[in-house]
Amino acid sequence: MRIFSGIQPTGVVHLGNYFGAIRQWVELQEGNECVYCIVDYHALTNEDMKPDVLREARRELALDLIACGIDPERTILFVQSDVPEHTELCWILGCVTSYGDLTRMTQFKQKAAEQEFVNGGLFYYPVLQAADILLYLADHVPVGEDQLQHLELSRRIARRFNYRFGELFPEPQPILGKGARIMSLADPTRKMSKSYGPEHYLGLMEPEESIRKKIRSAVTDIGLKPGQEMSPGVANLFTILELVAPTEVVEGLRREHAEGKLLYKHLKDVLFRHLMEALAPVRERRAELAARGDIDEVLAAGADRARVIAREVLGEARARVGLD
Ligand code: AMP
Ligand code: TRP
Repeated sequence: MRIFSGIQPTGVVHLGNYFGAIRQWVELQEGNECVYCIVDYHALTNEDMKPDVLREARRELALDLIACGIDPERTILFVQSDVPEHTELCWILGCVTSYGDLTRMTQFKQKAAEQEFVNGGLFYYPVLQAADILLYLADHVPVGEDQLQHLELSRRIARRFNYRFGELFPEPQPILGKGARIMSLADPTRKMSKSYGPEHYLGLMEPEESIRKKIRSAVTDIGLKPGQEMSPGVANLFTILELVAPTEVVEGLRREHAEGKLLYKHLKDVLFRHLMEALAPVRERRAELAARGDIDEVLAAGADRARVIAREVLGEARARVGLD
């Protein structure tokens, strides 16, 4: 299988990114050809993105990904704007994309509703995402649940191109991780995200004390009678616990909860301990990597490998539509 996925360099990597996507990225390296992209063109759609911040965030994210277990020797790890073929394919694909489909994208509607100035890049974002994937003829894309609609659109775009210009692109299928949807601890009705502010996410590399505080103050409920359904905040704590603790521990706490005996402070303490233990190897590796001075070279080498594939596929797409 050829695997492709992307992540925006917009600051920190949080638990949602890690369990929803990156952990699968790491596992998929076994036995597949993987292409992982730091999507800085996409990051430009964020109105408040500062040039210096973007420049640095790309390197930081690359180091985070390597600490998580992405191996740049085996896998192609690169920065999107180092391979400008992405934007050219984006234009070609835009011309086989339905305007109506674009207006129906939930992420666009949400973001557009939240800001005063809505840039065109935000509207075109899903076409660029389709170009990212199709440029490598990828057939599988590991993502979190929030990206399923974008992936469905990528398939429609591939289908439409193939229909008009002859079979070229495979229709990319999603690979959903176990932690497909992690919610904010401060507001468990919203997904964990960088966009809502620091109290809404747990950073993978965040200081231990800060993680402890955020878990301690996670929204729960005032206690339930036996048999009553779990509130979203408590369900979310269990979702995370399941990702980091052994089954016996989770089952024991679930039983206590069902019997109405579970103290949420205890649940939170157990969660904190297992989470820190699960993240320890990644956090230690990241601290070692901080001293690594060759990250620019690593990314340049990744871009060289990506470009070989990108040039060939773009060349074929150009020829198909009559731009050769
Ligand atoms: P982003 O930070 O938006 O670029 O997302 C990078 C990857 O993390 C994507 O595959 C998302 O689907 C995934 N992701 C982001 N937030 C969450 C979340 N709260 N739960 C699960 N997966 C997520
Ligand atoms: N839109 C994705 C997100 O917010 C990031 C992304 C860009 C991506 N291009 C991609 C994900 C291609 C998978 C494949 O998470």
